[in-house]
Amino acid sequence: MVKTIEWKDNTVRMLDQTLLPNKVVYKTYRDYKAVADAITRLVVRGAPAIGVAAAMGVALGALKIKAKDIPTFKKELTKVTQKLAASRPTAVNLFWAIERMERFVEESTTTNVEVLKKKLIAEAKRVLREDIAINKLIGKNGGELIKNNWTILTHCNAGSLATGGYGTALGVIRGAKAAGKKIKVFADETRPVLQGSRLTAWELMEDKIDVTLITDNMAGALMHQGLIDCVVVGADRIASNGDVANKIGTYSVAVLARAHGIPFYVAAPLSTIDTNIKTGEEIPIEERSSTEVTHVQGKRIAPLKCKVRNPAFDVTPAWLVNGIVTEKGVVKAPYKSGIKKLFKK
Ligand code: MRU
Repeated sequence: MVKTIEWKDNTVRMLDQTLLPNKVVYKTYRDYKAVADAITRLVVRGAPAIGVAAAMGVALGALKIKAKDIPTFKKELTKVTQKLAASRPTAVNLFWAIERMERFVEESTTTNVEVLKKKLIAEAKRVLREDIAINKLIGKNGGELIKNNWTILTHCNAGSLATGGYGTALGVIRGAKAAGKKIKVFADETRPVLQGSRLTAWELMEDKIDVTLITDNMAGALMHQGLIDCVVVGADRIASNGDVANKIGTYSVAVLARAHGIPFYVAAPLSTIDTNIKTGEEIPIEERSSTEVTHVQGKRIAPLKCKVRNPAFDVTPAWLVNGIVTEKGVVKAPYKSGIKKLFKK
């Protein structure tokens, strides 16, 4: 399984996903500002992986703080968390991880700054370890929904690369395979940033999972021909009512799946569910640079000065979702009560 991110000798080591699949390059980060920049530039991407990077970014920032007393340390740490929180707006795991690190500081009883720094590093490493364990549970729970000999369509990349490891949507695929099922995958290429072709196809091929790449506009025709048995995607943020924000194009796939009577599943950890918001309408959607649309790999493919829209995510309403696969089990409609139950201790 490919390693996306790790804490090594007081640095953060991340696979540069902007270079995949042509180059496999690991970069070393010593500064939290560089981690924030790496999140913005998609060196590390995918909601849970962004969360892990943010937790490690907080630990990196903490290491550099020179304050000798806890109140000054806390004040300095606010600059670190604010910078990291501004890196991307949609994936709630970013804010979840930062808040977890802040809560850890608040709840710590130590009066020694150096001790607190060490504990923050341990907490960031725990965020990574827990994420991998959670994904394996998602894989096990979701794997049970997949029948032998099924062909699954996925959109974007919700695999090892998008998480601490194992993946959410691709975790479900790995879980089904681990349970002995024969499965095949269609990967949407996922314009404009091509996470499907550059990352999902690469990751599944590395793992010897049968994957066929298609362009986004092919999914409907393949469904019509009866070649797709179910859709599994990840999520960047899920509202209390089950509305799901995920990579742009997910909504179109969900509509197509419903039109063809194909189940549409979302796989995500509880850290992706934002219980502070009621519906998907409240989810902030990142609008990225127009060059992602006007250029492919540095080459212009649109007229100069052409007007462009580039929302990086869309919201799939809960009524199009057949189930949300979490580490605590599969939630089905009605989502409001099902999601509430997930958070009951
Ligand atoms: O812009 P990205 O590549 O960060 O978008 C990623 C996605 O939309 C994923 O599907 C989502 O974060 C789930 S990752 C397990």
